[in-house]
Amino acid sequence: MDQAVGVPIPDPAGASGDQAAETVRQLRDMATPAGTAALSRAGALLAERTDAVTALSRLRAEVGVALAGPAWGFARQRDRARAVFGADADRLLFTADALEQAGRPRLADRRAARLLAGGADSVVDLGCAAGTDTIALARAGARVVAVDLDPVARELTTVNTAALGLADRVEVVAGDAVELVAAATDGRVAGCAAAVLDPARRAGGRRQLDPDRWSPPWSTVRALLDAVPTCAVKVAPGLDHDRVPAGVEAEWVSVGGSIVEALLWGREPSRTWRRATVVDRDGALHELTAATDPGTADAGPVRSWLHEPDPAVIRSGLVALVAGQLGGTLVDPTIAYLTSDDPADSPWVSSYPVVEVLPFNLKKLKALLRARGVGRVTVKKRGSAIEPETLARQLRGPGEGSAVVVVTRVAGAPTTIVCGHP
Ligand SMILES: C[S@@+](CC[C@H](N)C(=O)[O-])C[C@H]1O[C@@H](n2cnc3c(N)ncnc32)[C@H](O)[C@@H]1O
Repeated sequence: MDQAVGVPIPDPAGASGDQAAETVRQLRDMATPAGTAALSRAGALLAERTDAVTALSRLRAEVGVALAGPAWGFARQRDRARAVFGADADRLLFTADALEQAGRPRLADRRAARLLAGGADSVVDLGCAAGTDTIALARAGARVVAVDLDPVARELTTVNTAALGLADRVEVVAGDAVELVAAATDGRVAGCAAAVLDPARRAGGRRQLDPDRWSPPWSTVRALLDAVPTCAVKVAPGLDHDRVPAGVEAEWVSVGGSIVEALLWGREPSRTWRRATVVDRDGALHELTAATDPGTADAGPVRSWLHEPDPAVIRSGLVALVAGQLGGTLVDPTIAYLTSDDPADSPWVSSYPVVEVLPFNLKKLKALLRARGVGRVTVKKRGSAIEPETLARQLRGPGEGSAVVVVTRVAGAPTTIVCGHP
């Protein structure tokens, strides 16, 4: 299903329009029985680690010239998607661009459950791309209107929801999120009681740091948050806290120590001021919330333990809350390293025993590491211009031991904190 909603949609023209039409045609081919067989053969060749030239010539002979190239291309994207999408990857189709923009299904499921918890039964996915959010929302029981300006995105969502048996709950439509949000009334948008908005934050392969240049832009994010209480918006993790409107909960999510997404929750699902969600290396999920700004932690001298807060804790502005839990202080008022007398058993920090604290001086540092028999170092830095990999190479030595070398500022002074492993 692919119909216009609300406003006339500018159709992509020229070369990129032709390319989009060709990709849509290929996606439709892949959804036929012959395409499915070609894809599964391409997947088998990939699994056998067949090189591209051999694989393509075999595919041409076995499934025909028209299906061989697309089958190989989509099988390669499936292969890349498997790490995040698991078994579903073998039923889904992605273009390289859509996979790049796709969120994590586990987080999309969690977002869908929270968004629907208040009773909304219909949701518009404003910018559906390959359909990650649409799939999560449909699986959570909602009727979903999946909107995108891009015909390739619409086709991807169409074939992907059909492949997962969700087509009866999903309507894929051409639409401009800017226009749809501007027309929102009575807390509803595109006829739905809830909305998910995940603006494109890349253009020409580069990250758009300025929210006014996202597509849709910040003005649409703001308008949605104001007009539709039951909504969730994915934003860049670097979003300035000053942009978060009052009454809107902002959440930062990390997986395995890296930030993967940031969200603004509409006024209905919002429960707190800020939330840090940490999915640890074992897959367990931990949430830290603050109803009001906890401010900045006190600073003090380096003590027996150094703690590196998880990036979700740092970005959400909750370091002071964790400092309170650990009985810790900052090593510098402007640096997010904490220090305390005791080790911490906490999902919010990685902790290292402090071995030595010295002013930053490469020669002295090398001598100290040699004297301690340290040959391998992991370098961490915060508030310093050094390049960690370069310094780690410079510090490498013959010793058997290893250490964590933290280059930072302590009370304003460039300092090295030599630590052991946790
Ligand atoms: C970041 S992607 C969405 C990714 C998706 N939530 C997922 O996890 O797979 C953004 C999508 O928004 C679409 N888009 C950008 N501007 C739009 C607009 N004004 N109206 C509708 N869709 C738009 C893009 O074509 C792209 O498919």
